[in-house]
Amino acid sequence: MLDVAPRPVAGREDALVVDLPADRLAQVRRLRTAVAAFVVLHHDVPRPRSLLSGEHLTRIVEAVYASLRVAGSSTFRFEAAGADSPTFARLGDEFARATGLKLDPTDGELVVKVRRGARRDGDVDPGWDVLVRVGPRPLSARTWRVTDFPGAANATIAGAMVRLAGVRADERVLNLMCGSGTLLIERLLAGPAAAAVGIDHDDDALAAARDNLEAAGLTRRAALVRADALHPSSWATGPGADVRPADLILADPPWGTLHGSHSGAAALHSGLLRAAHEVAADGARLVVLTHEVKVMEAAVRAADALWRPRPPVRVYAKGHHPRIWVLDKLA
Ligand SMILES: C[S@@+](CC[C@H](N)C(=O)[O-])C[C@H]1O[C@@H](n2cnc3c(N)ncnc32)[C@H](O)[C@@H]1O
Repeated sequence: MLDVAPRPVAGREDALVVDLPADRLAQVRRLRTAVAAFVVLHHDVPRPRSLLSGEHLTRIVEAVYASLRVAGSSTFRFEAAGADSPTFARLGDEFARATGLKLDPTDGELVVKVRRGARRDGDVDPGWDVLVRVGPRPLSARTWRVTDFPGAANATIAGAMVRLAGVRADERVLNLMCGSGTLLIERLLAGPAAAAVGIDHDDDALAAARDNLEAAGLTRRAALVRADALHPSSWATGPGADVRPADLILADPPWGTLHGSHSGAAALHSGLLRAAHEVAADGARLVVLTHEVKVMEAAVRAADALWRPRPPVRVYAKGHHPRIWVLDKLA
């Protein structure tokens, strides 16, 4: 969280603006549900070529330095219509000279977006906005992720799942099918919990989760259990390894071909709703992220005696539009 309130951005539903002095820019690294943070500069110029002139270039270079002070990069790239045009080649040369960064059009770390400004009433020309990303990677690239895992959840989405469910310090948290631990870690970083357990049936997943929990400094706050998440009667019940009855249950079941198959998705989603209900405390919330939207809708309808769904939230991840469901336990 930042200590200044965000404001809406005219014409955009996917962005908020905050007025943050340059010396407090590093605060954006604390944001857990933002995909990326940019320093936004508006230029009253008719075309990008005019950004080459002294005063405009100076402002952009200052923004690049502000970003580099938060986290270093050695390369940059443009994201703009016409990024491969001669105008952007010249802009790239000037930036490279002024900042010492190297232009790498495909993999450049520091992203500089150049786009039309938002048109306001009475504007003859909306000018151009230049957005300089803070840091070489999106904010979803957490420092705790030391071991990758195929199909790992996007940490920004995981942060949003936790926020949607609400964080209660006395709750017992269960992450079913925890994979490399993204949901568990984001929940524990969001605030205290009475206890936390992650369950997966795959040793590689649990090893990745162990590494990531350690990197997050959370090893002592969570236990990992190797078990079939759909069959609670088979789970270990050792001290610290059991959070039943759980107040908050998090899950992102397998999808596609990585850890499952579409043909098994219906049984898996309905099995998840059933198993979660079996181990849930009164008043528990179940939060599920899934790409199998139709399958989940059907499973939720069939489980209407177990869980009451809140309206699902559509999110965007790597070309897909999965949904987040928050479900409240019925008696
Ligand atoms: C999409 S991945 C979870 C990714 C995880 N959230 C992360 O960020 O790494 C799905 C996980 O479900 C696990 N899984 C699938 N079926 C399972 C079952 N019946 N019991 C336990 N784990 C299961 C897989 O091993 C895999 O780790």
